Amino acid sequence: MKQTPAVSVQDLVVRYGKGKTAVRALDGVSLTIEPGRVFGLLGPNGAGKTTLVKVLLGLVGGYEGRAELLGEPVGRALPRRRVGYLPEAHRLPGYLTAWQVLELFGMLCGRERAWLRQRIPGWLERVGMREAAHRKVKQYSKGMQQRLGLAQALVHEPEVVFLDEPTDGVDPIGRAAVREVIAELKRKGTTVFLNSHLLMEVEQMCDHVVILNRGRILREGSLEEMTRGAGAVRIDLGRDTADLAGKLAKCGQVTDSGPRHVDLIADEQGLGAAIDKLRAEGLAIRAITPRKLTLEQVFIDLVGAQAGSAPR
Ligand SMILES: Nc1ncnc2c1ncn2[C@@H]1O[C@H](COP(=O)(O)OP(=O)(O)OP(=O)(O)O)[C@@H](O)[C@H]1O
Ligand SMILES: [Mg+2]
Repeated sequence: MKQTPAVSVQDLVVRYGKGKTAVRALDGVSLTIEPGRVFGLLGPNGAGKTTLVKVLLGLVGGYEGRAELLGEPVGRALPRRRVGYLPEAHRLPGYLTAWQVLELFGMLCGRERAWLRQRIPGWLERVGMREAAHRKVKQYSKGMQQRLGLAQALVHEPEVVFLDEPTDGVDPIGRAAVREVIAELKRKGTTVFLNSHLLMEVEQMCDHVVILNRGRILREGSLEEMTRGAGAVRIDLGRDTADLAGKLAKCGQVTDSGPRHVDLIADEQGLGAAIDKLRAEGLAIRAITPRKLTLEQVFIDLVGAQAGSAPR
């Protein structure tokens, strides 16, 4: 039997404003997220990522198209317990302590106080906030607030969680902790919807990715599909060679080079030209190996190629 998708969106259009200043924040988006996936929504500033999350949570109305969360049309009251949300640039009440925030939000999401009290210490530990648990939120640094925000989104153990830039402002150790939390969610089968600009992290965490620009999907696929670079190769030479990048600049896109290697993205003709050029200079080629692209290279290539990739 086919499982109900965690998220299902069809031909979604969202407009903000009217007349000349109107913006189509989402311009015909269709996507499906299977339960248990760690899904990454990527896109430049203003692409429509937060808007999509807000539609799914019923925070933006007046859209066209179809949007369902956990099999229910968006806007229909889903039990809060089933969904978690870490908003972009969130604000937690400054007069509460971390412990009180987790207790209050957990209860708002339908969990009993006793149930929460058993779990709160574990969450404080996971996000590295145990020591600060009884200090007031207004005394926290940005990264500490973000860590608490993540615990708040998860403390009631939702089935699907939306994390809008979860590592924004978080230090490297905290970011590793966030990755560990997400890995744990994946093991437990929670669906994670992640908005992020940190593509290295997306590569480490997500199994399915969509790249959005100007309200439209540019590419969608598994991480493997996205980074399997068509035409990306590494050429290794037998000895040190000056200015390899310069020599091959006309054959394709040089993405990296050193004294004995050059990474090139080129079509067949470009690769042939590169080989000819190196041979003509009497340089021995030791190996040509197909190479995976990083998500960042795929992103810059796709989004950068679009006219007008600056925020609207
Ligand atoms: N409340 C609003 N009123 C008017 N326009 C809005 C509003 N919120 C978003 N927009 C516009 O909708 C578009 C998409 O914005 P959105 O916040 O969804 O982008 P994003 O992909 O989350 O960007 P970022 O990476 O900067 O967070 C932008 O052009 C933005 O100016
Ligand atoms: Mg956003």
